[in-house]
Amino acid sequence: MKYKIGLIGCGTVGQGLLEILETKGEALKKDFGFDAKVVAITDKIKGTATAPGGLDIKKVLALLSQGKSLADYRPGKKAAEADPLDVIAACDADIIAELTYTNIQTGEPATSYIKKALQAGKHVVTSNKGPAALHYHELKELAKKKKVQLRIEGTVMSGTPVFTLFESGFAGNEVKEIKGILNGTTNFILTKMELENMDYADALALAQKLGYAEADPTADVGGFDALAKVVILSNVILGGDVKPSDIKPIGITGITKQMVMEAKQEGFRYKLIAQTKRDGGKITAGVAPQKLPLSDPLAGVMGAQNALTFDMDLLGKVTIQGPGAGKLATGDAILQDLLAIHRNLR
Ligand code: HSE
Repeated sequence: MKYKIGLIGCGTVGQGLLEILETKGEALKKDFGFDAKVVAITDKIKGTATAPGGLDIKKVLALLSQGKSLADYRPGKKAAEADPLDVIAACDADIIAELTYTNIQTGEPATSYIKKALQAGKHVVTSNKGPAALHYHELKELAKKKKVQLRIEGTVMSGTPVFTLFESGFAGNEVKEIKGILNGTTNFILTKMELENMDYADALALAQKLGYAEADPTADVGGFDALAKVVILSNVILGGDVKPSDIKPIGITGITKQMVMEAKQEGFRYKLIAQTKRDGGKITAGVAPQKLPLSDPLAGVMGAQNALTFDMDLLGKVTIQGPGAGKLATGDAILQDLLAIHRNLR
Protein backbone atom coordinates (compact mmCIF):
# COMPACT_ATOMS: atom_id res chain seq x y z
CA MET A 1 0.00 0.00 0.00
CA LYS A 2 1.15 3.51 -0.74
CA TYR A 3 1.26 6.22 1.92
CA LYS A 4 1.91 9.95 1.83
CA ILE A 5 3.51 11.26 4.99
CA GLY A 6 3.71 14.83 6.25
CA LEU A 7 6.34 15.72 8.86
CA ILE A 8 5.53 18.45 11.35
CA GLY A 9 8.87 19.16 13.01
CA CYS A 10 12.18 18.03 11.59
CA GLY A 11 14.64 18.01 14.48
CA THR A 12 16.40 14.94 15.83
CA VAL A 13 13.44 12.57 15.49
CA GLY A 14 12.30 13.83 12.08
CA GLN A 15 15.79 13.52 10.65
CA GLY A 16 16.12 10.05 12.16
CA LEU A 17 12.90 9.01 10.43
CA LEU A 18 14.06 10.49 7.11
CA GLU A 19 17.37 8.61 7.34
CA ILE A 20 15.50 5.37 8.05
CA LEU A 21 13.08 5.88 5.15
CA GLU A 22 16.00 6.68 2.86
CA THR A 23 18.09 3.64 3.81
CA LYS A 24 15.29 1.12 4.35
CA GLY A 25 12.60 2.33 1.92
CA GLU A 26 13.18 -0.43 -0.62
CA ALA A 27 13.38 -3.19 2.00
CA LEU A 28 10.15 -1.97 3.66
CA LYS A 29 8.39 -2.09 0.30
CA LYS A 30 9.71 -5.56 -0.45
CA ASP A 31 9.24 -7.12 3.01
CA PHE A 32 5.99 -5.49 4.17
CA GLY A 33 4.41 -3.87 1.11
CA PHE A 34 4.84 -0.51 2.86
CA ASP A 35 5.52 2.15 0.24
CA ALA A 36 5.91 5.64 1.73
CA LYS A 37 6.57 9.05 0.25
CA VAL A 38 7.21 12.19 2.27
CA VAL A 39 5.05 14.91 0.69
CA ALA A 40 5.58 17.74 3.18
CA ILE A 41 8.06 18.78 5.86
CA THR A 42 7.63 21.87 7.95
CA ASP A 43 9.82 22.97 10.83
CA LYS A 44 9.80 26.24 12.76
CA ILE A 45 13.55 26.66 12.39
CA LYS A 46 14.42 24.64 9.29
CA GLY A 47 11.64 25.89 7.02
CA THR A 48 9.17 24.13 4.77
CA ALA A 49 9.36 21.98 1.65
CA THR A 50 6.43 20.28 -0.05
CA ALA A 51 6.09 18.10 -3.13
CA PRO A 52 2.80 16.28 -3.85
CA GLY A 53 4.71 13.58 -5.76
CA GLY A 54 7.16 13.03 -2.88
CA LEU A 55 10.26 14.88 -1.73
CA ASP A 56 13.73 13.64 -2.60
CA ILE A 57 14.77 12.60 0.92
CA LYS A 58 18.46 12.45 0.07
CA LYS A 59 18.29 16.07 -1.08
CA VAL A 60 16.40 17.11 2.06
CA LEU A 61 18.98 15.40 4.31
CA ALA A 62 21.83 17.05 2.39
CA LEU A 63 20.27 20.51 2.87
CA LEU A 64 19.77 19.88 6.58
CA SER A 65 23.30 18.57 7.11
CA GLN A 66 24.66 21.71 5.43
CA GLY A 67 22.59 23.83 7.82
CA LYS A 68 20.50 25.19 4.93
CA SER A 69 16.81 25.97 4.99
CA LEU A 70 14.25 23.61 3.52
CA ALA A 71 13.09 26.67 1.58
CA ASP A 72 16.19 26.04 -0.59
CA TYR A 73 14.73 22.72 -1.75
CA ARG A 74 13.72 24.44 -4.99
CA PRO A 75 16.41 27.02 -5.71
CA GLY A 76 15.01 30.33 -6.90
CA LYS A 77 11.50 29.32 -5.83
CA LYS A 78 11.56 30.09 -2.14
CA ALA A 79 8.40 29.05 -0.37
CA ALA A 80 6.83 31.57 1.96
CA GLU A 81 7.02 30.75 5.66
CA ALA A 82 4.33 28.24 6.39
CA ASP A 83 2.10 27.74 9.40
CA PRO A 84 2.10 24.01 10.29
CA LEU A 85 -1.70 24.15 10.65
CA ASP A 86 -1.96 25.31 7.02
CA VAL A 87 0.52 22.67 5.87
CA ILE A 88 -1.52 19.95 7.62
CA ALA A 89 -4.72 21.18 5.95
CA ALA A 90 -3.20 21.77 2.52
CA CYS A 91 -0.95 18.74 2.02
CA ASP A 92 -2.50 15.53 0.78
CA ALA A 93 -0.67 13.37 3.34
CA ASP A 94 -2.71 10.50 4.74
CA ILE A 95 -0.42 10.23 7.79
CA ILE A 96 0.95 13.15 9.80
CA ALA A 97 4.09 12.50 11.84
CA GLU A 98 3.93 15.11 14.60
CA LEU A 99 7.53 15.49 15.78
CA THR A 100 7.77 18.95 17.27
CA TYR A 101 9.38 19.74 20.62
CA THR A 102 7.55 18.64 23.74
CA ASN A 103 5.94 21.21 26.00
CA ILE A 104 4.89 19.25 29.06
CA GLN A 105 3.08 22.21 30.66
CA THR A 106 0.70 23.12 27.82
CA GLY A 107 1.07 20.33 25.26
CA GLU A 108 1.07 23.06 22.62
CA PRO A 109 1.41 23.68 19.77
CA ALA A 110 1.56 19.92 19.18
CA THR A 111 -1.94 19.22 20.49
CA SER A 112 -3.44 21.69 18.00
CA TYR A 113 -1.47 20.09 15.17
CA ILE A 114 -2.66 16.62 16.14
CA LYS A 115 -6.29 17.75 16.44
CA LYS A 116 -6.12 19.48 13.08
CA ALA A 117 -4.73 16.35 11.41
CA LEU A 118 -7.27 14.01 13.04
CA GLN A 119 -10.13 16.35 12.18
CA ALA A 120 -8.92 16.33 8.56
CA GLY A 121 -9.16 12.51 8.59
CA LYS A 122 -5.40 11.88 8.67
CA HIS A 123 -3.74 9.23 10.82
CA VAL A 124 -1.26 10.63 13.36
CA VAL A 125 1.96 9.23 14.79
CA THR A 126 3.75 11.26 17.42
CA SER A 127 6.74 11.09 19.74
CA ASN A 128 5.53 14.21 21.53
CA LYS A 129 4.96 13.60 25.23
CA GLY A 130 2.93 16.77 25.87
CA PRO A 131 -0.29 15.84 24.03
CA ALA A 132 -0.01 12.20 25.11
CA ALA A 133 0.41 13.11 28.80
CA LEU A 134 -2.21 15.84 28.87
CA HIS A 135 -4.90 14.86 26.36
CA TYR A 136 -4.54 11.17 25.47
CA HIS A 137 -8.16 10.09 26.05
CA GLU A 138 -9.61 13.13 24.27
CA LEU A 139 -7.33 12.70 21.24
CA LYS A 140 -7.97 8.96 21.07
CA GLU A 141 -11.71 9.65 21.12
CA LEU A 142 -11.34 12.15 18.27
CA ALA A 143 -9.33 9.63 16.25
CA LYS A 144 -12.02 7.01 16.82
CA LYS A 145 -14.74 9.43 15.75
CA LYS A 146 -12.82 10.25 12.57
CA LYS A 147 -12.01 6.55 11.95
CA VAL A 148 -8.26 7.14 11.87
CA GLN A 149 -5.39 5.89 14.02
CA LEU A 150 -3.40 7.78 16.63
CA ARG A 151 -0.19 6.10 17.73
CA ILE A 152 2.33 7.18 20.36
CA GLU A 153 5.01 4.46 20.59
CA GLY A 154 7.84 7.03 20.48
CA THR A 155 6.65 8.85 23.60
CA VAL A 156 8.04 6.22 26.01
CA MET A 157 11.37 4.35 25.57
CA SER A 158 11.78 5.61 21.98
CA GLY A 159 11.66 2.63 19.57
CA THR A 160 11.89 -0.01 22.30
CA PRO A 161 8.37 -1.47 22.09
CA VAL A 162 6.05 -0.64 24.98
CA PHE A 163 2.50 0.05 23.77
CA THR A 164 2.62 -2.38 20.84
CA LEU A 165 3.44 -5.15 23.35
CA PHE A 166 -0.09 -4.78 24.68
CA GLU A 167 -1.48 -5.36 21.17
CA SER A 168 0.50 -8.58 20.80
CA GLY A 169 2.55 -10.54 23.38
CA PHE A 170 1.15 -8.90 26.52
CA ALA A 171 -2.44 -8.67 25.23
CA GLY A 172 -5.02 -9.89 27.74
CA ASN A 173 -2.80 -9.22 30.74
CA GLU A 174 -3.90 -6.87 33.46
CA VAL A 175 -1.02 -4.73 34.69
CA LYS A 176 -0.76 -4.14 38.42
CA GLU A 177 2.41 -2.10 38.54
CA ILE A 178 4.97 -0.55 36.17
CA LYS A 179 8.38 0.52 37.47
CA GLY A 180 11.47 1.64 35.61
CA ILE A 181 13.99 4.07 34.22
CA LEU A 182 12.34 6.35 31.68
CA ASN A 183 14.77 9.19 31.13
CA GLY A 184 17.88 8.52 29.08
CA THR A 185 19.59 11.82 29.83
CA THR A 186 19.57 11.43 33.62
CA ASN A 187 20.61 7.78 33.45
CA PHE A 188 23.45 8.81 31.13
CA ILE A 189 24.54 11.58 33.54
CA LEU A 190 24.47 9.25 36.56
CA THR A 191 26.46 6.64 34.62
CA LYS A 192 29.10 9.13 33.44
CA MET A 193 29.46 10.54 36.98
CA GLU A 194 30.00 7.07 38.43
CA LEU A 195 32.04 5.26 35.77
CA GLU A 196 34.06 8.11 34.29
CA ASN A 197 34.18 10.47 37.24
CA MET A 198 32.68 13.10 34.94
CA ASP A 199 31.18 16.29 36.34
CA TYR A 200 27.41 16.72 36.24
CA ALA A 201 27.59 19.72 33.88
CA ASP A 202 29.96 17.98 31.43
CA ALA A 203 27.81 14.85 31.39
CA LEU A 204 24.69 16.93 30.72
CA ALA A 205 26.45 18.81 27.90
CA LEU A 206 27.45 15.49 26.35
CA ALA A 207 23.86 14.16 26.63
CA GLN A 208 22.69 17.32 24.83
CA LYS A 209 25.32 16.86 22.12
CA LEU A 210 24.23 13.26 21.57
CA GLY A 211 20.60 14.34 21.10
CA TYR A 212 19.24 12.68 24.25
CA ALA A 213 18.23 15.78 26.19
CA GLU A 214 15.08 17.83 25.73
CA ALA A 215 15.30 21.27 24.13
CA ASP A 216 15.09 22.56 27.72
CA PRO A 217 17.08 19.98 29.74
CA THR A 218 15.46 21.03 33.03
CA ALA A 219 12.65 18.73 31.87
CA ASP A 220 15.14 15.84 32.08
CA VAL A 221 17.09 16.65 35.23
CA GLY A 222 14.02 17.94 37.11
CA GLY A 223 12.14 14.67 36.50
CA PHE A 224 9.40 16.25 34.35
CA ASP A 225 10.18 14.16 31.27
CA ALA A 226 9.98 10.92 33.29
CA LEU A 227 6.81 12.29 34.89
CA ALA A 228 5.16 12.82 31.48
CA LYS A 229 6.07 9.25 30.52
CA VAL A 230 4.76 7.70 33.73
CA VAL A 231 1.50 9.66 33.29
CA ILE A 232 1.23 8.28 29.73
CA LEU A 233 1.81 4.72 31.01
CA SER A 234 -0.76 5.26 33.80
CA ASN A 235 -3.41 6.44 31.35
CA VAL A 236 -2.72 4.22 28.34
CA ILE A 237 -1.77 0.93 30.01
CA LEU A 238 -3.42 1.16 33.43
CA GLY A 239 -6.47 2.95 31.98
CA GLY A 240 -6.22 5.85 34.43
CA ASP A 241 -6.97 9.52 34.16
CA VAL A 242 -3.83 10.88 35.80
CA LYS A 243 -2.73 14.46 35.14
CA PRO A 244 0.88 15.64 35.26
CA SER A 245 -0.16 18.22 37.86
CA ASP A 246 -1.24 15.36 40.19
CA ILE A 247 2.42 14.37 40.68
CA LYS A 248 5.38 16.32 42.01
CA PRO A 249 8.51 14.75 40.54
CA ILE A 250 11.91 14.78 42.20
CA GLY A 251 14.76 14.89 39.68
CA ILE A 252 18.50 14.29 39.97
CA THR A 253 19.64 17.84 40.61
CA GLY A 254 20.19 17.00 44.28
CA ILE A 255 22.41 14.01 43.51
CA THR A 256 26.09 14.93 43.72
CA LYS A 257 29.10 13.03 42.43
CA GLN A 258 30.08 12.44 46.05
CA MET A 259 26.70 10.78 46.77
CA VAL A 260 27.10 8.60 43.67
CA MET A 261 30.60 7.52 44.77
CA GLU A 262 29.55 6.85 48.36
CA ALA A 263 26.63 4.74 47.15
CA LYS A 264 29.02 2.79 44.93
CA GLN A 265 31.26 1.97 47.90
CA GLU A 266 28.21 0.67 49.78
CA GLY A 267 27.17 -1.54 46.83
CA PHE A 268 24.31 0.71 45.71
CA ARG A 269 23.54 2.82 42.66
CA TYR A 270 21.29 5.86 42.26
CA LYS A 271 18.63 5.62 39.56
CA LEU A 272 15.78 7.97 38.69
CA ILE A 273 12.81 5.65 39.14
CA ALA A 274 9.34 6.19 37.70
CA GLN A 275 6.57 4.08 39.17
CA THR A 276 2.84 3.66 38.72
CA LYS A 277 0.54 1.25 40.45
CA ARG A 278 -3.15 0.41 40.34
CA ASP A 279 -4.77 -0.31 43.67
CA GLY A 280 -8.45 -0.99 43.10
CA GLY A 281 -9.77 2.13 41.40
CA LYS A 282 -6.84 4.29 42.49
CA ILE A 283 -3.60 4.90 40.60
CA THR A 284 -0.53 6.09 42.47
CA ALA A 285 2.37 7.36 40.36
CA GLY A 286 5.67 9.06 41.14
CA VAL A 287 9.18 9.93 40.00
CA ALA A 288 12.16 10.12 42.38
CA PRO A 289 15.79 9.01 42.67
CA GLN A 290 16.21 5.71 44.50
CA LYS A 291 19.38 4.10 45.84
CA LEU A 292 19.07 0.56 44.48
CA PRO A 293 21.16 -2.45 45.54
CA LEU A 294 23.32 -3.71 42.66
CA SER A 295 21.31 -6.95 42.69
CA ASP A 296 18.23 -5.03 41.40
CA PRO A 297 17.92 -5.53 37.60
CA LEU A 298 17.23 -1.80 37.18
CA ALA A 299 20.61 -1.01 38.84
CA GLY A 300 22.41 -2.59 35.89
CA VAL A 301 20.76 -0.34 33.29
CA MET A 302 23.48 2.09 32.21
CA GLY A 303 23.99 5.03 29.85
CA ALA A 304 21.01 6.37 27.92
CA GLN A 305 19.26 3.00 28.18
CA ASN A 306 15.76 2.77 29.66
CA ALA A 307 14.03 -0.20 31.29
CA LEU A 308 10.57 -1.09 32.54
CA THR A 309 9.30 -3.90 34.72
CA PHE A 310 5.64 -4.78 34.18
CA ASP A 311 3.92 -6.76 36.91
CA MET A 312 1.02 -8.56 35.21
CA ASP A 313 -1.72 -10.93 36.37
CA LEU A 314 -1.02 -13.72 33.84
CA LEU A 315 2.67 -13.38 33.00
CA GLY A 316 4.02 -12.08 36.30
CA LYS A 317 7.00 -9.73 36.12
CA VAL A 318 8.60 -8.99 32.76
CA THR A 319 11.43 -6.47 32.37
CA ILE A 320 12.28 -4.87 29.05
CA GLN A 321 15.42 -2.82 28.45
CA GLY A 322 16.49 -0.78 25.45
CA PRO A 323 17.26 2.65 24.08
CA GLY A 324 15.08 5.44 25.43
CA ALA A 325 16.31 8.34 23.35
CA GLY A 326 18.34 9.21 20.28
CA LYS A 327 17.93 9.99 16.61
CA LEU A 328 17.61 6.54 15.03
CA ALA A 329 16.05 4.92 18.11
CA THR A 330 13.18 7.44 18.15
CA GLY A 331 12.99 7.54 14.35
CA ASP A 332 12.48 3.78 14.65
CA ALA A 333 9.52 4.31 16.99
CA ILE A 334 7.86 6.41 14.29
CA LEU A 335 8.61 3.72 11.73
CA GLN A 336 7.07 1.07 14.02
CA ASP A 337 3.89 3.15 14.30
CA LEU A 338 3.75 3.71 10.54
CA LEU A 339 4.06 -0.04 10.00
CA ALA A 340 1.38 -0.69 12.64
CA ILE A 341 -1.01 1.67 10.82
CA HIS A 342 -0.22 -0.22 7.63
CA ARG A 343 -0.84 -3.61 9.31
CA ASN A 344 -4.14 -2.42 10.77
CA LEU A 345 -5.34 -1.11 7.41
CA ARG A 346 -4.55 -4.28 5.50
N1 HSE B 1 15.01 13.67 26.83
C1 HSE B 1 14.46 12.36 26.76
C2 HSE B 1 15.38 11.38 27.49
C3 HSE B 1 14.31 11.98 25.32
O1 HSE B 1 16.51 11.77 27.83
O2 HSE B 1 14.98 10.27 27.77
C4 HSE B 1 13.42 10.83 25.05
O3 HSE B 1 12.11 11.07 25.47
